[in-house]
Amino acid sequence: MADAGTSPEGMEDGRIIYGETLQLDVLLNLQGKLASGGDDLFFIVLHQTHELWFKELLYELERARDHITVDALDSASGQLRRVRAIEELLTAQLLSMMTLSVEGFAALRERLGTSSAFQSAQFREIEFVSGLKDPRYLSGDWFSRAERARLRRRYREPSIRSAFDDLLARRGVVDLFTSLRRDPEGELRGIVEGLVAHDEGLRDWRTRHVEMAGRLIGDSAGTGGTSGIPYLRSRRKTAVFPELRAVLDRL
Ligand code: HEM
Repeated sequence: MADAGTSPEGMEDGRIIYGETLQLDVLLNLQGKLASGGDDLFFIVLHQTHELWFKELLYELERARDHITVDALDSASGQLRRVRAIEELLTAQLLSMMTLSVEGFAALRERLGTSSAFQSAQFREIEFVSGLKDPRYLSGDWFSRAERARLRRRYREPSIRSAFDDLLARRGVVDLFTSLRRDPEGELRGIVEGLVAHDEGLRDWRTRHVEMAGRLIGDSAGTGGTSGIPYLRSRRKTAVFPELRAVLDRL
């Protein structure tokens, strides 16, 4: 604990200060645009915290991909465990949407216009780096120049899916089930479990999101221009590694 007499200005003395390290003066002043009362602040914080975690997810997914590429499978499994943990906390966070009333959200929605997290570039980047590369999501006219450049890069870059397929090819794995059966404790199993956990983590998030959104908007169209709930339901089936769950279940 600091001395009672320590001056708050005493930052030039080399001490590392919590608020400065985290740039809290900046971070806590980024909620202003919509935050004009009612549920606005809640809405902004809910989305901004998602975007922060999306940033961290992208970092871990890239590291997992790069580790798979150089056969550092234990490291990649560690990253995939963190990915799953973050996906679980985001899914849990969506439960807080229960505290929005239908009327309160309707009022908020009028101010949202056509803005929707459907336009989140980072969410598409997560899909792309995982291996879900749907080119239709490249062309949204809402992306900034920087976002579009990032999306194009991720679209071209190897994904976790392609890194995993290359790994199997390098190791001469023709039948994954037989390989895992032969070596049940091996590092390949850890990767397969991590990839399935990531797929299921995103699926659970999508499921919770459509449940929560459905309560708030019923059968009206989405602010991002889709059919709303029917569109989100169709996206629930999206999976990067649909065949791997079945392999694990048979083991
Ligand atoms: C507050 C209540 C929310 C409602 C009513 C809602 C509703 C919707 C709807 C209707 C869509 C379909 C696209 C469209 O807008 O036309 C959508 C997409 C999406 N929303 Fe939400 N959402 C909410 C909160 C959130 C939050 C907190 C996040 C976190 C970032 C989020 C992330 C997304 C993403 C990533 C998509 C695109 C999904 C995909 O294309 O597969 N939403 N949302």
